[in-house]
Amino acid sequence: MATVTPHPATTTENPTTDESATPDLSTGTAAASAGRAAPAAPLAVRRLGGRIGAVISGVRLGGELPPATVAAVRAALLAHKVVFFRGQDHLDEESHEEFGRLLGAPVAHPTVPSADGRYSLGIDSDHGGRANQWHTDVTFVPAYPAFSILRAVVVPPYGGNTLWANTATAYEHLPEPLQRLADGLRAVHSNDYDYVALRPDVLPERLAQYREVFTSTTFRTEHPVVRVHPETGERALLLGNFVQRIAGLTGQDSRRLLELFQAHVERPENTVRWQWEVGDVAIWDNRATQHYGVDDSGDHDRRLRRVTVDGDVPVGTDGRSSVLLSPGSVPEPAFGPASGATTAG
Ligand SMILES: [Fe+2]
Repeated sequence: MATVTPHPATTTENPTTDESATPDLSTGTAAASAGRAAPAAPLAVRRLGGRIGAVISGVRLGGELPPATVAAVRAALLAHKVVFFRGQDHLDEESHEEFGRLLGAPVAHPTVPSADGRYSLGIDSDHGGRANQWHTDVTFVPAYPAFSILRAVVVPPYGGNTLWANTATAYEHLPEPLQRLADGLRAVHSNDYDYVALRPDVLPERLAQYREVFTSTTFRTEHPVVRVHPETGERALLLGNFVQRIAGLTGQDSRRLLELFQAHVERPENTVRWQWEVGDVAIWDNRATQHYGVDDSGDHDRRLRRVTVDGDVPVGTDGRSSVLLSPGSVPEPAFGPASGATTAG
């Protein structure tokens, strides 16, 4: 697969000058090679931080985007790890999902059912599962999603921001001895963790309900702590709140090492924070990021919809793939393929 240079230095308001990223961000190369007229795509990419985040403007998201525009969005996504679009109020569940198909195959959550039988999953404030811990989506299965596409439907009057951290720059900026240490480690991830300890602010009944659904099947997967990105070739730390322990270490040693590496992920230099408005869409590369939903808007309503796109089985720096430890396979949900259903490398 094509290697994309991270953080193209010349990504600016005028992508027609950007020659450092592949594919071409503006001239419709993909469309032209497919025999279609190259669209005039006034797509602009404005970086938000030095290591992560960009706002893309000039795109109306949906299932009908020209291939050149999809290629430009994908290139920006791989380079900046999370990209944001304002004013996408026209999207509904269907067109959100159709847009997702342009990035890959949509997948259902392995355990949490979607209310209306769609791939799009509700992320709602009245749900017990507020995501106010740093995590990468669905890492308790081997082939967890490559991309997540989150759309704001109702936003609170204040708070409820989401933060993302770049796990590739977190690795890149580790001192070399810590990189070597991380390269050789593997970690066990599970969806069965101590919900009460992590969620002391949530009503016990609600938490029990959420836990029952979320862990209706308990998954345990061993991943490399450093994943080689299948599209960019970058090395990225693969951790987050589904990690239970480092394979082969005691609980205490695991916790110390996990804290050490996680602290590097969370360094402010690796992060970007987004203040949601209705109609915003955020897309992140789930293979090179963690994220955190800030739970600070009290009882105000916050409703987002998420579509996830299938990923592949991670591979470590030694070439070893992730392994599903239990159960024997990822069960199919009631409809469509589940995220992580692929367990072979
Ligand atoms: Fe999440």
